[in-house]
Amino acid sequence: MTTRIDGKVISAQVLDEVASDAAAFLAEYGIKPGLAVVLVGEDPASQVYVRNKIARATESGLNSIEHRLPADTSQETLNQLVADLNAAPEVHGILVQLPLPDHLDEEQIIAAISPAKDVDGFHPENVGALNVGKESLVPCTPQGSMIMLESVFGKGNMSGKHAVVVGRSNIVGKPMAALLLQANCTVTVVHSRTPNPQELAKQADILVAAVGRPEMIGPDWIKPGATVIDVGINVIERDGKRKLVGDVEFETVAPVAAAITPVPGGVGPMTIACLMKNTMIAARRLASA
Ligand code: GUN
Repeated sequence: MTTRIDGKVISAQVLDEVASDAAAFLAEYGIKPGLAVVLVGEDPASQVYVRNKIARATESGLNSIEHRLPADTSQETLNQLVADLNAAPEVHGILVQLPLPDHLDEEQIIAAISPAKDVDGFHPENVGALNVGKESLVPCTPQGSMIMLESVFGKGNMSGKHAVVVGRSNIVGKPMAALLLQANCTVTVVHSRTPNPQELAKQADILVAAVGRPEMIGPDWIKPGATVIDVGINVIERDGKRKLVGDVEFETVAPVAAAITPVPGGVGPMTIACLMKNTMIAARRLASA
């Protein structure tokens, strides 16, 4: 029987821990851990993500501070907001929802966020720290994916496994590869210029799909008994209906795999739970600094 790795169940456990720690933090310091969420413009997917992040924060006993800015916001205005949030003692975590409108320089904004409050883990200082194995804030999606893998293998039990990551984004693919390497996996990163991605994927004990192409990965990419983490969240239209699918064709891949994450209800809820976890970590570090 294939194990369905349930992101709803595992994320609920992570959120429970955050909620108890947030209550303890409030008792200790007299304030809630604070998460500022910045949304520029009206991208429909981003609006849904931000709404979910704020709902989970509130439920977990965090203080969520929402900043919605119009699509034509200038770089200077956004920089000023980030500077204010960096300085605000009630804000422990800052998240600027990506993608930003085209006229804004994403890289510059990410670098302007205080690394201590960078709960996305996108700041170059956190990226560097992760890659040399130093304490850092770890990007939420790869962090959540690792927790799911630990639920299958047990903590510390991935040593020597061949992990293949499909996709090399800064948000998922690269930090995922760093975490798998830290867990002593042999790591292959496959991307759009790889001549034989399927051949490499078929050698994977652990396959992480993070490409953003609906159901690109079929059963002929999978080594029997592999564990599959599907990071993709793609909206498609099928039989006249809108449907959410991953980068993996779940129905055909599941019978070949030993364990697999569904979409929806897999990595998605883990990403949000890890954002709350990072906010809690940032609050603790800032409060004791
Ligand atoms: N857009 C898609 N994923 C993410 C994420 O993890 N963080 C932010 N800030 N924006 C995103």
